[in-house]
Amino acid sequence: MDARRMVERLRAGDARALARAVSLVEDGVEGAGELLAECRKFTGNALRVGVTGSPGAGKSTLVDQMARWLRDQGKRVGVVAVDPTSPYTGGALLGDRIRMQSLATDEDVYVRSMASRGAMGGLAHAVGGVCDVIAASGREIVLIETVGVGQDEVEVAQLANVTVLVLVPGMGDEVQALKAGVMEVADIFVVNKSDCGGAEQVEAEIVAMQGLAERQDSWVAPVVRTVATTGEGIAGLMETVQRCAEVKRASAADRRSLRQAQDRLFDSASAALGVAQDETSFGITGAQLRLDHLGVAVKSIAGARDFYEMLGMKVSHEETVKHEQVRVAMLAMGESRLELLEPTHGDSVIGRFLAKRGEGLHHIALKVEDVDATFARLKENGVRLVNDEVRVGAGGHRYFFVHPASTGGVLMEIVGKG
Ligand code: CO
Repeated sequence: MDARRMVERLRAGDARALARAVSLVEDGVEGAGELLAECRKFTGNALRVGVTGSPGAGKSTLVDQMARWLRDQGKRVGVVAVDPTSPYTGGALLGDRIRMQSLATDEDVYVRSMASRGAMGGLAHAVGGVCDVIAASGREIVLIETVGVGQDEVEVAQLANVTVLVLVPGMGDEVQALKAGVMEVADIFVVNKSDCGGAEQVEAEIVAMQGLAERQDSWVAPVVRTVATTGEGIAGLMETVQRCAEVKRASAADRRSLRQAQDRLFDSASAALGVAQDETSFGITGAQLRLDHLGVAVKSIAGARDFYEMLGMKVSHEETVKHEQVRVAMLAMGESRLELLEPTHGDSVIGRFLAKRGEGLHHIALKVEDVDATFARLKENGVRLVNDEVRVGAGGHRYFFVHPASTGGVLMEIVGKG
């Protein structure tokens, strides 16, 4: 098999090459990895939309309508139907789903059924590969239809950029049963067959469940009502899908740049401490260090926290540290935290900092295995320390500060474990 030629052909619109490539990737045959790598050069920004829910929720009809709507918008579409209970085998081809017949003649819609349990690397892995091949063929959107029951299906749902969970009235108990896995990955709830009555009740169930789900992004999953058989609500659903994709992309970019900023700070802090990523003459490794928090001096915690909460960060701890004359709010930020520092007195360390420099980054804090040993070692080596002993601060943690003169201009807090 010549991977490059096959990808050239499927990109040029050769339907047979596409079907063959999908089969090779799905079966995980020899050379599939090479084929996949070639495809991934051309996947672009194809949007993956997962549609999941219990059998009988009308997912298939909904997916048909979504594909139809996208075609009306001039988009090229791929559909991957993953149903482990499906009688079709992995080789099922275009046209295998009777209901898709009106779309089957449209070569800009590529439909594929997958029922392969025990695929190499698991079902999600196989589906991910198939989606990449389809995206490489120039489809702007791939709809992935799954039955939302098992762990495999939750993993498949996580492949998607946007996951739609389809529910129907009269399934209150099933909402309960689904909560374990699928509720958490849902970006949009669809109440389908909403003309049947009882839609309000499902909606109320969903809203009640939502409070329990923890999300990393700022998106709050909305409820959209549809009647898939008539196409009612489909346009609204698709607009919601687009909006969700945009919010999640922006949010992921935010998290990436925050992580990069952390990494940069961490690198410069490690360098300032004379700690390389490799083992040092002190016998500790950079990998043992953590960026514990960033300290930001603010005039008012109440005024500053709104912004950070908009980013999805939550205040996990708040207290006044008397001897520092400061009020502290800790906001969770991945493995690290953000520490907002508000002076309780103008003539305090933070109060003077604000007067002189205004609001801003005040210090960075590294967590070390042994704060006492680190204190002793730095002191021994002539590092200029702000404190003459290890102190006890917010949350009972032990810490000391290193003077910017020794760190490359950054006030650095060293925090002990536990
Ligand atoms: Co601090």
